[in-house]
Amino acid sequence: VTDLGTLYGVGVGPGDPELLTRKAERVIRATPIIAVPVASSGGESYALDIVRDLLQPEQKVIELHFPMVRDLAVRDQHRRNAAEAITTFLKAGQNVAFLTEGDPLLHSTFGYVLHYLTPGLPVDVVPGVSSILAASADLHLPLVEADQRLAILPATFESIEDLPSVFHDFDTVVLLKINRVLDQVLDVLEKNGLSNNAVLVERASHRDGRVVPDVRLLRGASVHYLSLLIVYSRRRSREG
Ligand SMILES: C[S@@+](CC[C@H](N)C(=O)[O-])C[C@H]1O[C@@H](n2cnc3c(N)ncnc32)[C@H](O)[C@@H]1O
Repeated sequence: VTDLGTLYGVGVGPGDPELLTRKAERVIRATPIIAVPVASSGGESYALDIVRDLLQPEQKVIELHFPMVRDLAVRDQHRRNAAEAITTFLKAGQNVAFLTEGDPLLHSTFGYVLHYLTPGLPVDVVPGVSSILAASADLHLPLVEADQRLAILPATFESIEDLPSVFHDFDTVVLLKINRVLDQVLDVLEKNGLSNNAVLVERASHRDGRVVPDVRLLRGASVHYLSLLIVYSRRRSREG
């Protein structure tokens, strides 16, 4: 009987290769199958870009397709397929490292893989430095302190109308996946007098990343997929 392989969920951090943990580096170097999530076949993998220099030709890189489509049934089917592809390797005794940008259990496709993986297969999770922490570091601003409350939301969530109440209830609100709904969110900020309390961070920790402190300038602009908005919703405005 072949021993089962282990699935490693590896967080590779926000972009700067120096923010890769020693454990992530060790696991990536030692694992023969490197699985990377992509939004379209042959599409970009930000996580793979971060660790490309560590890989050797004998390691096999497999793409797992997680399309960003509205149809939940289609998304579910791809998640199942990804879990099945990984299961085949594990049952053949091969270890698999599934790479995710940031941390593997914070709004990450690795969560779906775990959900659909046959229970009982060996799993090890290597946490990573999240983009949220890297963005705060770029801004030199505490995310929250003392009794402040933090909310983390995907900005593409269904009801943008709910945002004002989130801004009301939390001191700091981090909006991930902001690129597709940026103008709508800018409208909400403007209507709620919060435009001066928000900062956009594009490609946190990357060499070509940028911080946009005046978010009004972003109206109509397109920003990178790796962008997030931090709204210091209950702090005094930076101008006031
Ligand atoms: C699917 S979530 C992944 C979050 C990731 N697991 C983490 O811990 O940072 C993707 C979103 O994370 C944010 N993101 C990831 N990397 C980023 C970076 N380097 N700079 C800014 N935002 C980033 C963006 O909002 C992007 O749309």
